Amino acid sequence: MSYEKQKRFFQEAYQHGDKRIEKGYGWPLEVDPQLISFMKEIEELLKSGTALDIGCGQGRHAIYFAENGFYSIGIDYIESVIKEAKQTASDKGIDNVDFEVMDVLKLNFPRDFFDLVLDWSVLDHVKPADWNTYLSNIFKVLKSGGFLILTEFGANDERVKDKQENFCEDENHYDHYFRMDEIEELFGEYFEIIKTNETVIETEPKPHLMRNILLRKN
Ligand SMILES: C[S@@+](CC[C@H](N)C(=O)[O-])C[C@H]1O[C@@H](n2cnc3c(N)ncnc32)[C@H](O)[C@@H]1O
Repeated sequence: MSYEKQKRFFQEAYQHGDKRIEKGYGWPLEVDPQLISFMKEIEELLKSGTALDIGCGQGRHAIYFAENGFYSIGIDYIESVIKEAKQTASDKGIDNVDFEVMDVLKLNFPRDFFDLVLDWSVLDHVKPADWNTYLSNIFKVLKSGGFLILTEFGANDERVKDKQENFCEDENHYDHYFRMDEIEELFGEYFEIIKTNETVIETEPKPHLMRNILLRKN
C-alpha cells in the first residue's frame, strides 16, 4: 500500500522549517506535557535504559529522553527531518541520541532492544491494513515489561465525532481518529493498558483532540 502522497505532505511540512506551524502543519515543537506526566508515572519502574521515538520528526521527544537518562533513537521516514534532528542534537552537545531514516512498517532493530517506545501521532497515519505489521514490529523490539506510549488523534475530535466513519482519507493521506475499543482490540492481547486520557493540541483552523495511552508489554 502506497504512502507516497502522505510522505510528500510531511516532506513539505518540514521544508517550512521555523515557519512550519504558521503554515498550518501544527504539531507542536515543545515536549508534550502529557508525555512528561506519563514518564513521571513510570519513573519508579523506568528511569533509564533504551528508548525509541518512532516518527520522531524534528526529534523533540528523542532528545527529551536522551536529556533524561535514556539512550534514545529517533526514526522517521523523511530524510531531511532526520538530518535536522541530528543537527539539533549535535548543537545541544547531546551524544546519547541517534537518528535514523526508517519506516516503522519496516522497523529494523534487534528483538527486545528497547525499554520504552513512543509513538506521538504516527499510528494515526497508518492504514488499518498495516496495523498488524506495525504491532508486530513494535512488539518485537520492545522488551517484555517495557512501556509503550501512544498519542494519537482521538475519536471525540469534532472532525469525526458525529460521523459514521472515524477516519479521513484524502487520496493517499490517511488520518485515523482512534476509539478506545480499537486500541483495546489491537493491543489488548499483548499489552496492559495502564492509563488513558484525552488532551487538546491547539492547531489551526481547529484544535486536535488527542488520545493518550500508556501501555506495558506483558
Ligand atoms: C504528526 S508528525 C509527529 C512528529 C513527531 N512524532 C513529534 O511528536 O513531533 C508524524 C511524523 O511521523 C512520520 N511518519 C509517518 N509515517 C511514518 C512511517 N511509516 N515511518 C516512519 N515515520 C513516519 C512523519 O514523517 C512525521 O514526522
